[in-house]
Amino acid sequence: MVKKNACIFISGYGSNLKSLIQNSRNHNFPVNIKLVVSDNKNANGLLHAKKNSIPYLVINTKKKNHEITTLNNIKKYNISIICLAGYMKIISKKFIKSFGKKIINIHPSLLPKFKGLNTYKRVLTNNEKKTGCTVHFVNEKLDSGKIILQKSFFIKKNDDIYTLKNKTQKLEQRAFSEAIINIYRYN
Ligand code: GRF
Repeated sequence: MVKKNACIFISGYGSNLKSLIQNSRNHNFPVNIKLVVSDNKNANGLLHAKKNSIPYLVINTKKKNHEITTLNNIKKYNISIICLAGYMKIISKKFIKSFGKKIINIHPSLLPKFKGLNTYKRVLTNNEKKTGCTVHFVNEKLDSGKIILQKSFFIKKNDDIYTLKNKTQKLEQRAFSEAIINIYRYN
C-alpha cells in the first residue's frame, strides 16, 4: 500500500495528534504524518511532533501572508490531506481553494448540532440525550462540510462539562483514524 502524506494542524493539547501518530505506524493505515502545523508555539501537541521526529511549523496567524507561507511549506511535503485536530483558527476560502485537496476537521458535537465553540456547555443547557463527535470535510462554512463519520454516546444525569469532554475526546481519538481509513478505503 502506498501511503499518502498527511499534515496535522493543531493549537493545543494534541491528544488527537498523538493517536494519529500512533495509528499511522501501522503499515495498513493509509497515511503517514509528514508535517505538523501549529498556530501556537506553546502547544503541548508540538511535543508529540518533536518526540516522533516529525517536522513541525509554528505559524504566526497575525502576519499578513501566513497562509501563503503555510501552503509553500505544505507543498514541500507533497501533502494529500490536511487534518484539523483541535486547530482553533478559521481557514480561509482562499487557502482551501489553493490547497485543492482534502481537508478534514474533528468537532466535539453531533453536527449539524452545536457548530462553533463551547459545545459541551451548550449540549448540557439544551438537555440533549446524546452527544459525540463528528469528522467532516472542511468547506468555506464553519463546521458545515460533508460528514465522514460520527460517534455518539448517551448523556448521563450526573455528566458535567468535564465528563462530557473526557468521553467525547476518547471517541474522537478513534473517530479521526477511522474517518481517514474510510476516505482511502476505495482509492
Ligand atoms: C478536540 O476536542 C476537538 O474536537 C476540538 O478541539 C479539541 C482538541 O483536542 N476541535 P486535542 O488538542 O486533540 O487534545
